[in-house]
Amino acid sequence: MDTQAGSGVQTNGAKGKFRRSQTASEVIERQKKFLFPAVMTYYDTPLPIQRGEGHYVWDFDGRKYLDFFGGILTVSVGHCNPTVNAALHKQNDTLQHVSTLYPTAPNVDLAARLAELAPGDLSQTFFTNSGTEADETAVMLARMATGSHEIIALRHSYSGRSHLNTTMTAHSPYRGLPDMVAGVKHALAPYCYRCPLKLEPGTCGVACAEDLEELIRTTTTGRPAAFMAEPILGVGGFIVPPKEYFPIVADIIHKYEGLLIIDEVQTGWGRTGDKMWGIEHWGVTPDIMTMAKGAANGIPMGITMSTPEIAKKWRGLTICTFGGNPVSCEATMATIDVIEEQNLLHNCSRLGALLRKRLEGLQEKFKCIGDVRGMGLMQAVELVKDRKTKEPDAETVKKLFEATRELGMLIGKGGLYGNTLRLSPSMTITEAELNQGADILEKAFEKVAY
Ligand SMILES: Cc1ncc(COP(=O)(O)O)c(C=O)c1O
Repeated sequence: MDTQAGSGVQTNGAKGKFRRSQTASEVIERQKKFLFPAVMTYYDTPLPIQRGEGHYVWDFDGRKYLDFFGGILTVSVGHCNPTVNAALHKQNDTLQHVSTLYPTAPNVDLAARLAELAPGDLSQTFFTNSGTEADETAVMLARMATGSHEIIALRHSYSGRSHLNTTMTAHSPYRGLPDMVAGVKHALAPYCYRCPLKLEPGTCGVACAEDLEELIRTTTTGRPAAFMAEPILGVGGFIVPPKEYFPIVADIIHKYEGLLIIDEVQTGWGRTGDKMWGIEHWGVTPDIMTMAKGAANGIPMGITMSTPEIAKKWRGLTICTFGGNPVSCEATMATIDVIEEQNLLHNCSRLGALLRKRLEGLQEKFKCIGDVRGMGLMQAVELVKDRKTKEPDAETVKKLFEATRELGMLIGKGGLYGNTLRLSPSMTITEAELNQGADILEKAFEKVAY
């Protein structure tokens, strides 16, 4: 059998055994040949990563990169964290899977621990494997609990890649099919830098939040099932709503007997600094909350939490084969251990403030930086061609990616226009490493920006 994976990539070794990729070019070639073209990668030439440790990763040629994106805010406590890995190894050698048909201690213990950590009366959990599933579960539950159907999501939001979640996601590049699922409306985003109502922050009366009421009255039956939002719009480019925003929208959705679903997939686990959950900064308690990404430091985990009163409204049979498997649950508990033992909520606020100061320093120096925003270790830099017109500058972002790669650092990007840098290193990062990252970024700006 001809098992050539592509020119030069042989899948059969001398003994007829499958041959593993040895080099970066083999990985790139196999990616191109065997993965859906839809699997997108950063950089002009993709960067295969071979190994990670702490706050660094290495490529196939042994080049070391400071990781300032944490695998999309997922490596919460450093690559291959020894505490998390010890828990993983122990559980892997004890019990890996029985499905939720049989209760396991790691599964119920994690649920009990989450009940202690979650805000308000959110004390019951349904485990899945991803943010997509966690959000989908939340929406289904809201529909069952209220008997209503319509869901209001935010423009510029991202909630995953299922049929429903792609419909809720409000970024045209992620919406490959038109109007896929009925009953989803999109409210104005609290995007102060590009106010959808062209108002000025501070004197706007938070009109974007107030508009939710008109949206409900004009585009729904008047009885929506839920309003769902991220405390900080992650994929949207770390858009931070004003402090009045969530109290206003919570009141409005409750007035119309809908539920407030808060998506903590990016903002959870202390990343925003001082608080375990992003929404706590706004003093609002959700009816349903979802988490994923950073929960288990890179091991798949999706979490949907709600009050017992709402949770009991789930109708029909449901099962998630892998959801809440003992290995993922132990990894999550070990991640929480590290967050608590190392007081990472404080690290995120202290080092987040430091990073913010460095980025604001760059803004003074480089006029292509239109906005610097974020909370804790979740900071963004939005690039524009002109500070007055705010025309997005995605080209300079692309150049900054190549320049930071060259200088040995990984960064992230986001925003509807692809013009926003996202910086979100592991929450365990040290002050020295943070400054090293800021220095590299500054050098990259000096090289390619203006
Ligand atoms: C806020 C938010 N919700 C949900 C998701 C979907 O998570 P997943 O990719 O694990 O399905 C993401 C992913 O980026 C996200 O950022």
